[in-house]
Amino acid sequence: MKKFVLLAALVQSYCLAADLTGYWVARDPLPDGTVRRTYLDLKQEGTRITGHIRATQFYYEIVDSTGGPDTFTLTASMHDGKSTRSAKYEVKLESDGLHVSTRRRPEAPLIHMVAHRGQPGEGALPARLPLPALHTVAPNGLAKTPPMGWNSWNKFASRVDDAGVRASADAIASNGMKEAGYLYVNIDDTWQAERDAKREIQTNKKFPDMKALADYVHSKGLKLGIYSSPGPNTCAGYEGSYGHEEQDAKTYAKWGIDYLKYDWCGARNIYKDEEMQAVYQKMGDALNASGRPIAYSLCQYGRDDVWKWGTKVGGNLWRTTGDIRDAWDSMTTIGFNQTDIADYAGPGHWNDPDMLEIGNGGMTTTEYKTHMSLWSILAAPLLAGNDLQHMSPEILAILTNKDVIAVDQDVAGKQGTRISKSGDSEVWAKPLSDGSKAIALFNRGGSEMKVSITWADAGFKATPRHARDLWLHKDVSLEGDQFVATVPSHGVVMVRVSAR
Ligand code: GLA
Repeated sequence: MKKFVLLAALVQSYCLAADLTGYWVARDPLPDGTVRRTYLDLKQEGTRITGHIRATQFYYEIVDSTGGPDTFTLTASMHDGKSTRSAKYEVKLESDGLHVSTRRRPEAPLIHMVAHRGQPGEGALPARLPLPALHTVAPNGLAKTPPMGWNSWNKFASRVDDAGVRASADAIASNGMKEAGYLYVNIDDTWQAERDAKREIQTNKKFPDMKALADYVHSKGLKLGIYSSPGPNTCAGYEGSYGHEEQDAKTYAKWGIDYLKYDWCGARNIYKDEEMQAVYQKMGDALNASGRPIAYSLCQYGRDDVWKWGTKVGGNLWRTTGDIRDAWDSMTTIGFNQTDIADYAGPGHWNDPDMLEIGNGGMTTTEYKTHMSLWSILAAPLLAGNDLQHMSPEILAILTNKDVIAVDQDVAGKQGTRISKSGDSEVWAKPLSDGSKAIALFNRGGSEMKVSITWADAGFKATPRHARDLWLHKDVSLEGDQFVATVPSHGVVMVRVSAR
């Protein structure tokens, strides 16, 4: 018995001697030649572990630990003033390092990595930089109508590369999209490598020569967009512009970049929401000083009422919501909730309810027509988010419907609003520069229904003289005091109506 107690004590002291305290780094090579690092800064006291974990854009505090003396489950949490996010990490010390298992999202598969001892302080967040006093950034004169183009994220996410961007530019230049107004070819997250010795941002091996790519896109009569973050990391964990705003803006100008999407993400670990305006102003100034006109897209998911200050920081558009998904619920929850902020949009500065999902497969053709109609009524940026090389004629026809695009691109730049709602039906209208109005009758319900609007409610004194159906491309005869249409489930009837 004595022997057993001694043995147990020995085992326990051996296990407790396996102290996890210190800095740990897991380095996972990615196919683009970059390395994804996960940092753990752990402090072990008995079987209790505290400290921090930094992974992609997230900097967590360890708020709970269970288990031991061998395997621990750590609950890590971060709070950014508005929302809290938690993650679980299982850690176990083995002879080859600290084995770490986690899920990137609760529903995602378990991933495993091995972390090794790092340098003291490795993975700590950079020191907070002072923010400039607020002023009004001079307008850059761009985006007189809502920007149109394509963005890589919705379809390709981290699979975007030079060849794919060239192919998208080729498609736009040859399939009628360019003539329909699509101009920007925008690279989203995951193009970056780390900085060189002069702290210049580098491209990873998916983008061997950004200047050559810009030249190619320009040779097609199109423009090239890029993506970064005001934080140390982007959402996907790549290098952000934190502390390098002017340097990066100059690099973009040197490469021939025409558009920047600037995504909050990693900045949330350093700044509060109330400081966003100064943070975004910094890059607005840097772009203006870069010597090249670069459209400026703010992406911070509509926090801190961005529509109230987006223009002041030089923004040409600002996201008004979290990320869209290729699903009816997501698209409609976003699209039908934009009415209150309509007055903030106008030439040069637009509300952005996120990029299009048209053609990505998660909605029906009818639903994609609704998506295109609603975004156009909203004077939203039209950034196609699908595979342009492999799309059906039907999808191309939706994306290039010139009558609908003319509503979106109307030079008056007025964002449309909801003018009536009854059950599952909604009627939206957008005033146009020639005195006419675009009117869209939506059916959000599960079966076909008649939707109507009186001319008085639509803002007409008498029965208008002329109406054109923007999907059927034919004139509609009008009589009586209202407009009535049969609208399919999840569908739309969209007309352009003029009194004269
Ligand atoms: C955020 C943005 C998306 C996309 C990804 C890239 O989620 O809202 O539009 O840019 O980051 O990581």
